[in-house]
Amino acid sequence: MTDRKPIIAGNWKLNQTHTEAISLVQTFSYELNEQDYDRVEIVVCPPFTAIRSVQLVIEGENLPIGLGAQNLYWEDDGAYTGEVSGAFLKALNCTYVIVGHSERRKFFGETDETVNKRTQAAFRNELTPIVCVGETDEEREAGRTEEVVGRQITEGLAGFTPEQVRSLVVAYEPVWAIGTGKAATPEDANATIAFVRKTLGSLAGDDVAEAVRIQYGGSVSPGNIAQLMAQPDIDGALVGGASLDPKSFAMIVKY
Ligand code: 13P
Repeated sequence: MTDRKPIIAGNWKLNQTHTEAISLVQTFSYELNEQDYDRVEIVVCPPFTAIRSVQLVIEGENLPIGLGAQNLYWEDDGAYTGEVSGAFLKALNCTYVIVGHSERRKFFGETDETVNKRTQAAFRNELTPIVCVGETDEEREAGRTEEVVGRQITEGLAGFTPEQVRSLVVAYEPVWAIGTGKAATPEDANATIAFVRKTLGSLAGDDVAEAVRIQYGGSVSPGNIAQLMAQPDIDGALVGGASLDPKSFAMIVKY
């Protein structure tokens, strides 16, 4: 067995005003006890406008909940209207940042090259990137899952040191499973995640790959989390819809 501590992160996407976010994180924390925090690393990723409010709750109540953002720009400051930098996230005591989510690839022109630049910016600002990969339905049907996911890893993570690769988190999120209620089977998810780990091994060495935490994401729920987590290569979950319900998210953490 490895000593990879499971990491369960909630990606709130474009949901929760800052006032709603305060009560969400508070209600969620009431469901948790010390054992939960010991067993699992817990992270929440609110929209930018709610990060400060969630930070104040987490710090004010001394909650061992990690704070993450859903994206960052690759420059730290300058004339880039509308962008938010890793430096600003670091100043809010964020420790994580999601990079290359499929919704950003689909709606906002994210590419493996921009994923690479954002990942560099995350490291430069001492943020742990949660790098998302995953194939679309068409790619899966065409038998191209490994080709696509392999490319996303090798190009998205090209040029990083083994120490950097060791420290990051990968989220495997098959696009067809996101928000559809149809999660990948635990066996299929594990097989692709094992392939991701193998690819990380050719990039940074097998011992590094063994230490990298790889999450599954896509319709994770209280009903399927235990079987997913029972798989040897699945080290956690990136949870969308179910993380907006404090009871459901707490049940997922307590899988
Ligand atoms: P759902 O859990 O809503 O399927 O979303 C998954 C996801 O995209 C998390 O980043």
